[in-house]
Amino acid sequence: MKFIFKITFWIFFILPFASFAGEGMWLPQLLKLLNEKEMKSMGMKISAEDIYSVNKGSLKDAIVHFGGFCTSELISPNGLLLTNHHCGYGQIQSHSTMGNNLIKNGFWAKSHKDELPNKGLTATFIDRIDDVSAKVLNGVTDSMSPTERQSAIDKNISELRKSYSLESYQDVIIKPFFDGNQYFAFVTTIYRDVRLVGTPPESIGKFGADTDNWVWPRHTGDFSLFRIYAGKDNKPADYSSENVPYKPKHFLPISLDGISEGDFTMVFGFPGRTSQYLPSSAISQTLNTLNPARISIRETSLKIMDKYMREDEATKIKYASKYASIANAWKKWIGESQGLRQSNAVQKKKKYEEAFQKRLSPDSPYKNLLSDLEKQYNDIDGLALARDYHQEIALRNVEILARMSDFRKLVSQYESGGNNAYIAQVNKLKPSLSAFFKDFDNKIDQEKLGALLTLYADNLDEKFVPEFLKRENLGMSSDESYDMMVADQFTLSSLTTEQEVMEIMALSPEKAVAAIKSDPIYALATAWADFYESEISTPYNTIKRSLDLNQEKYTKAQTEVFKEKRFYPDANSTMRVTYGNVNGYEPKDAVYYTPVTYLDGVIAKYVPGDYEFDLETRMLELYKNKDYGMYADKNGKLPVCFIASNHTTGGNSGSPAIDAHGNLIGLNFDRVWEGTMSDLNYDPSICRNIMVDARYILWVVDKYSNASHLIQEMKLVHPKNKMTTQKGKRK
Ligand code: ARG
Ligand code: ASP
Repeated sequence: MKFIFKITFWIFFILPFASFAGEGMWLPQLLKLLNEKEMKSMGMKISAEDIYSVNKGSLKDAIVHFGGFCTSELISPNGLLLTNHHCGYGQIQSHSTMGNNLIKNGFWAKSHKDELPNKGLTATFIDRIDDVSAKVLNGVTDSMSPTERQSAIDKNISELRKSYSLESYQDVIIKPFFDGNQYFAFVTTIYRDVRLVGTPPESIGKFGADTDNWVWPRHTGDFSLFRIYAGKDNKPADYSSENVPYKPKHFLPISLDGISEGDFTMVFGFPGRTSQYLPSSAISQTLNTLNPARISIRETSLKIMDKYMREDEATKIKYASKYASIANAWKKWIGESQGLRQSNAVQKKKKYEEAFQKRLSPDSPYKNLLSDLEKQYNDIDGLALARDYHQEIALRNVEILARMSDFRKLVSQYESGGNNAYIAQVNKLKPSLSAFFKDFDNKIDQEKLGALLTLYADNLDEKFVPEFLKRENLGMSSDESYDMMVADQFTLSSLTTEQEVMEIMALSPEKAVAAIKSDPIYALATAWADFYESEISTPYNTIKRSLDLNQEKYTKAQTEVFKEKRFYPDANSTMRVTYGNVNGYEPKDAVYYTPVTYLDGVIAKYVPGDYEFDLETRMLELYKNKDYGMYADKNGKLPVCFIASNHTTGGNSGSPAIDAHGNLIGLNFDRVWEGTMSDLNYDPSICRNIMVDARYILWVVDKYSNASHLIQEMKLVHPKNKMTTQKGKRK
């Protein structure tokens, strides 16, 4: 039997029982079938065909996957691309120096020729989506072992890929949905010349920084502007000064009418990953085992970075982007755990599982599914913890350890291909190593490694601590920290500074490889990686493969057992639409949060000279003069952010918030603290997404930054009274 969903089944049996408005990340090509009616009943004025069409320009043609990790959207006929400040942060940071600090001061290109190119940055469009389930699952049977099954699927996928005839700038991405019950193929077009056009200073784009991150009420102008460039034929091209601004099939008009409580909103983008159909045993593992470990590892790492960043401006620039990204998930896990606890998520899942179990017929093939899953989660618990520890330390937080994989590649090239292979690899490696060392400070990494190895040894079962890291084998006392041991290794290593590395690379291949292989940091990372592979990841993957197979069955079983529920596939970095209404929420007893914040709130949070809440005098002046132009709301206040019940996740950052008519009204960038658990347990009463109001974006570009030439490119509209406003033409 193949696990394939029947669309007809959905239409006839599932549609009449709508789930909570707000929950769900829906596939754009199925909106007509599954969602259009509900969307219209919630206030939408356009059709599903206006959102996604293969035959004509539709909203989807304005939605762009930004760098593969965020969303962005076209807002002008000249390829102007809007995304979050935190999505463009890596680029903004890489153009910043002490003398020309774009993070601190902001940046606005005066003309096209001042726009800044970004090596490696891509903008990806979705051309077409095909259901390829039958082809991918062809010949796949229940009697296959997990490995056989996977290799049958991989083989089908690789044949299917070959069957697509693509242009050189296109790709096809084939992804599993509903934990492998269904497969879709996405044909994409990838633009490779994407330039930075403008960014507000961090006192706007990152206002409130980590204190306000994941929190409502929010006052951050989290946006930046880029532009897609194309060859003369409007097709993707490598960066060239000859390239021209891309002419889109569709771009989003921007509404000046704003939102009111209750208004329909839709968010269109590329949500990364959610897991809504897990059993309670998985949720308790996240809550009790994994989140606490990840949180404490990152906390340790963040404290160390913070200390050095506060001491020195240059370090602050170097580490700003890395710090923000490590802090972001750290804080999210804290909120997630808190929300799971407060909403009794494990108990709720258990209740749901009881109901599931009750509905099964005595001869159901799903009878033992939940108890099998529970057992597997038990079996994998220690391995999963050790795996997270290793990944967090050796791949995520201690950068020099992660970097050693480059040197391993170098050694293996030399050993398999001799001098020529080695030299070719060195030439490939040099630019990325220079980029790495530009933002690297080895004393920070050294301190992190010492502290994190101590955590590792203190918190993991003996059997996951390799012999060469055991304290007794290193002559350390049983509670001694690893600081000294690590300090020695950093002193002896020649791979932790750019200068030393370049010296090694200037040696003959033979000598260089010998130096690398005898380097203590290289030796540590390599031995640890080998240990990880044999003692942790291999046994982990064995259990995980059969666990995944059971999850695939469980997800399918849920759709069969709860026929009255409407199911949507978990996020997997593919294009989705989610919709809801502008709505406040009750974060706790007797407290109600209204859905819109204003510039008054920005000023109220102002702390002169603060690391997170400082403002420029310009802001204070514009506020004093209430110089809001046409961007004020009808009460004369300038809106900053708003929330709604759109179901979003990481990757949705930079997604457009779209009104009932298909116009841009805001820019998604975050979720509220009480609802960060939504990836595992969406709760419509407290899960809200946070957006910057489009009028604040326009005000910052126009009034704050005097970049009104960019406003001229855009199409500003008044859908509520059907009038188009072009700033240039207005008195
Ligand atoms: N929490 C948001 C997201 O997950 C925004 C992160 C950027 N802001 C920050 N302070 N790190 O991406
Ligand atoms: N801030 C997230 C992002 O970068 C969005 C979210 O997790 O709500 O995609």
